[in-house]
This record gives sequence, C-alpha cells and structure tokens, in this order.
Amino acid sequence: MSVHTEVKKVTTHTLQRMKINGEKIAMITAYDYSFAKIFDSAGIDVILVGDSASNVMAGHETTLPITLDQMIYHASSVIRGTNHCFVVVDLPFGSYQSNSKEALASAIRIMKETGAHAVKVEGGEEILESVKRILAAGVPVMGHLGLTPQSIYKFGTYTVRAREEAEAEKLKKDARLLQEAGCFGLVLEKIPALLAKEVSESLLIPTIGIGAGQYCDGQVLVMHDLLGINTAFKPRFLRRYLDLHQQITGAIQHYIQDVKARDFPNDSEQY
Ligand code: KIV
Repeated sequence: MSVHTEVKKVTTHTLQRMKINGEKIAMITAYDYSFAKIFDSAGIDVILVGDSASNVMAGHETTLPITLDQMIYHASSVIRGTNHCFVVVDLPFGSYQSNSKEALASAIRIMKETGAHAVKVEGGEEILESVKRILAAGVPVMGHLGLTPQSIYKFGTYTVRAREEAEAEKLKKDARLLQEAGCFGLVLEKIPALLAKEVSESLLIPTIGIGAGQYCDGQVLVMHDLLGINTAFKPRFLRRYLDLHQQITGAIQHYIQDVKARDFPNDSEQY
C-alpha cells in the first residue's frame, strides 16, 4: 500500500481565509525554476512572476519592453519549481490595454502555456471591461493600484502616489470596482500607509502592499531587492534580508583566485 502525502496548496480561498483570520500573506517575486523552488520550500504563500523581470532579469530601465512570450517563459519556469504556493503572473504592457478580447487572449495564453494560477493587471476603471472578461472565463485576476510601473511615462516619476485627495478618491473607487468585478486580491504600490489602511479595511478581498505600510493584508517585495542582489535600489520601504551582491562577489573572486593559483581543481576534484 502506498502512502499518499498531499501537499496543501494555497488557493484564492486560502488567501481570503487568511484575511478573515488576520493572518498576513507573504508574497515575493520569482522568475526562474531554482529560486521559485527555494521560495516554495521555504513556505512562501504567493509567488508573483512580475513584469519587473524586464528590469531585474533583462536589464531594461522600465517594465514596458517585456513581451507576453517572455513572461510565459519565466512563468512556466517558476511553475516547474513550485508545489505549494499560489502563482500569479503579470500581464505585460501592451497585452491587455487595447481591448478586452486581446486581454482575455493574453490571459488564456498565460494559463494554458504556463500552468499558473492567476494573472495580475495594472489599473482600475479604465481596464474594468478587460478584468470582467478575463474573470468571466474563469481566470482569477489580481488588481494593482497606486504606483503602476507600466504607466511610468504618464506619471513621470516613481514617487509616492495618491497623496492628493482626488487621486486617493479615485484609488478608493477603483479598489471598490475591482472587488465588485470579482478580483481575488489587490496589490497597492507606494501609497500612504493610512490610505492603504482605509482601503484594506473597506475591502473584503486581501490587499498586498509594496511601500504601502503595515496595514495591508500582506506584503510583496522583488526578490532581487529583498536578497540584496540589486544594491543601487534603496527606497525607504525596502528591508534587505541578505547582501547577496557582496556574498556572490566574494565567492566569485575566491573562485577566480583558486583557478589562477592552480588550486582548483585539486586531486580529489578530478577523475
Ligand atoms: O512586477 C512586479 O514585480 C510587481 C511588484 C512590484 C508588485 O508588480
């Protein structure tokens, strides 16, 4: 008789229950198999295959250049490394803004070709029709309000959003509309903590903050920032848990030294 041990998978229901129970949700970005496997084994609740891949994986200045095909490559690699966590994939710029039919086609490609569990889109009222069409096809959708990097050329800067009354009111309305449409969660990026508190308390669905303070129902960070791979990026909201840049530099310098000194490989490291 074989013993079947079932891994408890995180679903949209799990995330909803966590909000109800006051249990914070931990989310991180990942873009490849190996890191996704480590994060999943460590017990992360949600992995976001963010279009920040455009910055941290491809070296672009903004998230705009990354394509749907490239997101599919990253997302399918992440999915192969995960077993327990919920995986959300960003719909990249240009894959959902034109019309709702294109949005649905892009979401379907993500779901069919990667095995991911949900998609994320940036914006509120202006993309509501697309959000509803994707949801009607049975694909879970996560919203993203506040600083939305795909609109960086409209904003002109990466500073805190929705400090002004009018923008805060629009954000609250957009949050309500996304919840009513059926989104299972909402990323709030770089907005005042008290606004994020008000939004989080007024919604039934969980909010996940990045630079949006302590009152969100969960937090998300870009893995390269959290692990200290990217040292140039130092916003106030970032807590670094490692200095991998320094550790990797040290390890590589050590390796170079060993090769040059004919120390590597030694007798026991060859056939
Ligand atoms: O692309 C990304 O990494 C994101 C997070 C910053 C939320 O959208």
